[in-house]
Amino acid sequence: MERLLEVAQLRVSFPSESGPVSPVEDVSFDVHAGEIIGLVGESGCGKSLGALALMGLAGPTATVSGSARYGGIDLVTAPQKELERLRGRDIAMIFQDPLSTLNPIMTIGAQIAEALHLGAERRQSSQQIQKTCVSLLSEVGLPQPAARLRAYPHELSGGMRQRAMIAMMLAREPALLIADEPTTALDPTVQAQILALLKRLRQQRGAAILLITHDFGVVAQTCDRIAVMYAGRIIETAPVEDIFFRPRHPYTAGLLRARASLGGGERPLEPIPGIVPPPGGRPKGCSFEPRCALARPECRLSAPLLTGDAHKFACHAPLPARYSRPAEPARSLAWPVA
Ligand SMILES: Nc1ncnc2c1ncn2[C@@H]1O[C@H](COP(=O)(O)OP(=O)(O)O)[C@@H](O)[C@H]1O
Ligand code: SF4
Ligand SMILES: [Mg+2]
Repeated sequence: MERLLEVAQLRVSFPSESGPVSPVEDVSFDVHAGEIIGLVGESGCGKSLGALALMGLAGPTATVSGSARYGGIDLVTAPQKELERLRGRDIAMIFQDPLSTLNPIMTIGAQIAEALHLGAERRQSSQQIQKTCVSLLSEVGLPQPAARLRAYPHELSGGMRQRAMIAMMLAREPALLIADEPTTALDPTVQAQILALLKRLRQQRGAAILLITHDFGVVAQTCDRIAVMYAGRIIETAPVEDIFFRPRHPYTAGLLRARASLGGGERPLEPIPGIVPPPGGRPKGCSFEPRCALARPECRLSAPLLTGDAHKFACHAPLPARYSRPAEPARSLAWPVA
């Protein structure tokens, strides 16, 4: 399958009083054209920062290294002007906080119309544009969509703003959409609507989607492949069925046992003991070692490398290939969304 984005050894560091710290330490994964790949992991693992770094938005104090190849361009070294051009057209990002994207002094309708102008519908008449805006707002489940076109962001509730921003990003018809916790703040019905919309964007327009979430329910419903992130590294990546039924990394297996609760409000089913180590305080060997029931002496000595083909994992003592979670062999992938 054609690789749309190839991320290799992405690292994001910041200066600190005790020397540079790297919340994103070593991130490598590919996004294939037309697929939905889920990036999962507990809060504080570096998912959002990694995505922002790909877009050239990690901030002025960040040092970004490694590479992220998109259509012959390395997003890590590309000049800001080139990144701005890509962000306007090819790559769109949905942020957790809609206010960071919406312009407070422009109506929702004007902002979606502007996004349509950047997307494929450039030659539409103003009447057609208005119609498309209304249909986009109704697709994201915004009540009274025609009236909302004249509203300013502050006149909408948080959930409505989130949906307006999603409509704006869909209007651009990006080749790659990076969606960072796009449905976390939304109620389950709207959440399901938005996930269906993302799937449709992929089906109808062939867009690839990098879906960042702490919620395994969301990835089960939406993704083709999953990359699991822990303490600044990708520690396992595989097709969705392999991750759910044949996880090889003890952290992935732990997340599955604690699913629906990685960073959200619900009580864990079986929480992973301990916490994600902060960027400045990670162990020398495997970062998961202090929390891992399967740790061996060598796990303290060196960080395992990510190896494998379609199913990659980074662990000195992986779970057996035929391991399946014994308590839930017959459970369907369509778990309820948290
Ligand atoms: N601008 C920054 N300066 C220093 N540390 C940062 C900065 N941005 C993010 N971090 C650190 O990066 C780590 C990962 O954060 P984040 O990417 O938001 O995690 P996630 O999205 O997985 O919850 C956190 O420990 C956070 O404090
Ligand atoms: S390398 Fe060792 S400590 Fe790390 S996850 Fe694997 S078994 Fe556990
Ligand atoms: Mg985040």
